[in-house]
Amino acid sequence: MIIAIDGTLASGKGTIARRIAAWYGLPYLDTGRLYRATGVAAIRAGVNLEDGDLVAAVAASLDLNDFEEEDLRSAEAGVAASKVAVLPEVRAALLDLQRAFANQAAGAVLDGRDIGTVICPNADAKLWIDADLEVRAQRRHKELTASGDTITLEDLTQQLRERDARDASRKDAPMKKAADAALIDTTHLTIDAAVDKARSEIDMILARKD
Ligand code: C5P
Repeated sequence: MIIAIDGTLASGKGTIARRIAAWYGLPYLDTGRLYRATGVAAIRAGVNLEDGDLVAAVAASLDLNDFEEEDLRSAEAGVAASKVAVLPEVRAALLDLQRAFANQAAGAVLDGRDIGTVICPNADAKLWIDADLEVRAQRRHKELTASGDTITLEDLTQQLRERDARDASRKDAPMKKAADAALIDTTHLTIDAAVDKARSEIDMILARKD
C-alpha cells in the first residue's frame, strides 16, 4: 500500500505523515529532506543554486548521513531546498530514489509536494494537507525560535509566502493538490485531531476501493 501525503509548508504534513506511517506499519520517506539536503550540500560545495546540471550531480551523490538534523531544518535550508527544487535536472535526479522507496514490497508513506501528482500518481490513498498562511508561519516560527533561530515572524511569513509561490508556480512538478486527494485543513485542528482526521480519510478511501 502506498500513501501519498502532500501539502504546504508547516501545515502539519510531516508530523501527520510520520504518525500515519507508524499507524499502518509502513516505511516512511520525508521527500523534503532530499531537497533540503541537496540545497545544503550545494551551498557547502560552493555550487551555484541555479545551475541545474551541477546541483543535479550533488543530488545524485547525496548521503543523508552527512547532515545534522538542525542543518536541514533551518530556514536557510528550506529556502535553498525550494530554489533547487525548481530545477528539472534535480527533480529527475531524485525521482528514481523516491519511486524505488514507494514501490518496495512493504509499501510506503511519502510526504512532499508532488507525491500524489508525479511520484506516485497511482497511490492507494492521497491526502492534501493545508492551513492558513498566518497559522503556518506562527507554527514554524515557534519551532525555529525553540531551536535558537532569530528570524522574526514578519520575515518568516514573507519567506513562506515566497516559498509557496515558488513551489506552486514552477514549471516542473509544481506543488498541487491531486484531483483525487482528500483535503485536510489543519488551521483549527490540534495535531492529534489532524492525525485522527487523516486516518479516517485514509480508511474511507481504502474502503471505497475494496
Ligand atoms: O517539506 P519541506 O519543507 O521539507 O520541503 C522543502 C522544499 O523542498 C519545499 O519548499 C519544496 O520546494 C521542495 N520539495 C519539493 N518536492 C517535494 C518535497 C519538497 O519540491 N516532494
